[in-house]
Amino acid sequence: MPKKVNGFSKFTKEEKIDWLANNFFTDKNQGINTLKTYWNSNKELQKLHDEFIENTVSNFYIPYAVAPNFVINGKDYAIPMAIEESSVVAAAALVAKFWSTRGGFKTTVISTTKIGQVHFMFSGDKTDLNNYFNSIKSELFEVTNDITKNMRKRGGGILAIELRNKTTDLENYYQLHITFETKDSMGANFINTCLEAIANHFKDTNKLDIQVVMSILSNYVPDCLVRAEVRCKVEDLYKENAPYYAQKFIQALAIANAEPHRAVTHNKGIMNGIDAVVLATGNDFRAVESGVHAYAARSGKYKSLSGAKIENGIFSFWLEIPLALGTVGGLTKLHPLAKMSLDILQNPSAKELMGIVAVVGLAQNFAALRALTTTGIQSGHMKMHLGNIIKQLTTDEKEVAYLLDHFKNRPVSHSGVAEIFENMKKS
Ligand code: MEV
Repeated sequence: MPKKVNGFSKFTKEEKIDWLANNFFTDKNQGINTLKTYWNSNKELQKLHDEFIENTVSNFYIPYAVAPNFVINGKDYAIPMAIEESSVVAAAALVAKFWSTRGGFKTTVISTTKIGQVHFMFSGDKTDLNNYFNSIKSELFEVTNDITKNMRKRGGGILAIELRNKTTDLENYYQLHITFETKDSMGANFINTCLEAIANHFKDTNKLDIQVVMSILSNYVPDCLVRAEVRCKVEDLYKENAPYYAQKFIQALAIANAEPHRAVTHNKGIMNGIDAVVLATGNDFRAVESGVHAYAARSGKYKSLSGAKIENGIFSFWLEIPLALGTVGGLTKLHPLAKMSLDILQNPSAKELMGIVAVVGLAQNFAALRALTTTGIQSGHMKMHLGNIIKQLTTDEKEVAYLLDHFKNRPVSHSGVAEIFENMKKS
């Protein structure tokens, strides 16, 4: 069979696997077996997953866990997280418990609007363009009436349509910059459908030479903003030397604001928590990632997403991020585990979910900075990772127990564990 293939999407799943095995597997039988091991025995459920995307050949598992003991705005939560990195859920659970005895987390949704744009080229007189836009603006709302009907009933819809002159950034470039409120849905399909209707009407009605290039939502949502925060007395932060360590914590944040190399890793730690909850609730983590990082660079320099201060002996720590999330639509109700996650979270509104997700990001950042500025990250992180390293070497219970015991109070590294394992086998 050739490595180039036509009509692959029309093959049955078995045919796809067969083609893959013949062309790309090192060990054909083992490869086929691995793919099939991950099929769900419930045929209906497997079919549901197969149909989420094209060319599905198996399922890719990522652990699904819960971090208990979160108190957010006075309410108790166990937060579902889907993530493969060993220490993330443990850190979230630890920090949740820590803050649960210090007043818990507080969240505020600052804004909830989203943006879509019709990008077009126009080389004529801009006064003619302005006049045309003003003459047709109300029709641009009207052509979406059917699409926005249900959303308007829920209090959402199109809030504003603006003509923006972008010709200083790119010759002849203009856009219709459109603001949406999408309530409990993330709104990507809704926004894109509205945009295409608007773009068609804008283009078809004009007697000017307007060239529509594309219509698409923006994943940059700086006006869909949520804040999560914690505060406590400095002396309640650490068992010993609290003012000293609290100061180090503040310095760590100052460094993340001063130095983009550090800021990226600092924010990556925040995204460990955010992505895990976004994924577990069936939301689009790529959209969230791109929007959040653009926000971190909004001043022209990539900086920390979180902030901290000490004032009058009170330590406060916060995170402000843009999050376009949904609790209806998309995968949220279609994927059984996403649906279950929302159930575990007591079926939050999109606004509540924004707060929950931001809290887990803040918790993750707290765990990382506290570890980094005290014991260092490796002791906790590598201890969690030790199990994964051992699993690659042996599953024999006695050998596992020996290695766990050996590394109980010793630094962990992959090569160190492998060396002790080899010595153990020799002796
Ligand atoms: C590791 O996944 C995340 C950290 O590197 C975050 C940080 O350095 O702040 C520990």
